[in-house]
Amino acid sequence: MRAPVAVLGIFVADLAFRAPRLPLMGETILGQGFKDGPGGKGSNQAIAAARAGGDARMITRIGRDTFGDMAQKAWAADGIDTSAVAIDEHLPTGAAFIFVSTETGNNAIIVESGAAAKLSPADVVAAESVIRGSKVLITQFEQPVETAIAGLSLARRHGVITILNPAPALPVDDAIYALCDYVTPNETEAATLTGLKVETEAEALAAAKEFVRRGAKNALITLGEKGALLHGEAGTHRVPAFKVEKVVETTGAGDAFNGGFAVALAEGQSPVDAIRFGCATAGLSVQKPGTAPSMPTRTEIEAMLRAG
Ligand code: RIB
Ligand code: NA
Repeated sequence: MRAPVAVLGIFVADLAFRAPRLPLMGETILGQGFKDGPGGKGSNQAIAAARAGGDARMITRIGRDTFGDMAQKAWAADGIDTSAVAIDEHLPTGAAFIFVSTETGNNAIIVESGAAAKLSPADVVAAESVIRGSKVLITQFEQPVETAIAGLSLARRHGVITILNPAPALPVDDAIYALCDYVTPNETEAATLTGLKVETEAEALAAAKEFVRRGAKNALITLGEKGALLHGEAGTHRVPAFKVEKVVETTGAGDAFNGGFAVALAEGQSPVDAIRFGCATAGLSVQKPGTAPSMPTRTEIEAMLRAG
């Protein structure tokens, strides 16, 4: 049986532009490539979880439009449960402008949540049976924070393991952390949320301790090509990333990690094994272009884990 994972979050169409640099205000520059495809942190994590072997259930709102069709197609292709997906007859499906610099490889993103900006605590209540029947619930901050809080609370009430991937980092009330079995920021998000500098490993540990002090059971800070650091009830562990031959695109790597980690936890793997599983998922995703389209299969993940 595939381990059930509920994902409360958003879908957007990723519109990725490649250019040497961003245009200045009032300026037009020529691009060096364009690609559209499924994105949005919640949907990316659901797709990562489904391909990693989980029974992923998406809880969101989309519009009745072309990008909404893109979402439905992507979810159908990976067997994602959409019984808790609401269709808004008036608002559009969201979109993300993703700028990738061909000079530095860095990216900059504007994400417009569209219909999912109206994803509400009432939608969470409507999804209660989907949440209750899941082993893990994961959510992010691309839909309203109060909706994330409602999802985490409801999951807690049903004994479902809760993961908050606090991305993008927003100012939030500390009370949210008490609802989290795991809070999974990257270094930048950890710095923004704690107000601490997070550049070294020692600083990452200090930030993790701060999340735990604020009420999280565990803080799991992802460190990009350095792996991840876990601190909390599950102990303090440093898990290295997998060696990657050639990085093609890192956008969505955090989603790959979170989706993989969620499935492994839902399967009852130990926190450290689940982190290794997440690291393998992320390490594979950065070797392919795009966000959701680059999520690896279970077979690929297991091969990477075996190769060490
Ligand atoms: O985490 C990557 C995602 O963030 C992209 O797919 C984009 O849609 C933004 O929401
Ligand atoms: Na990728």
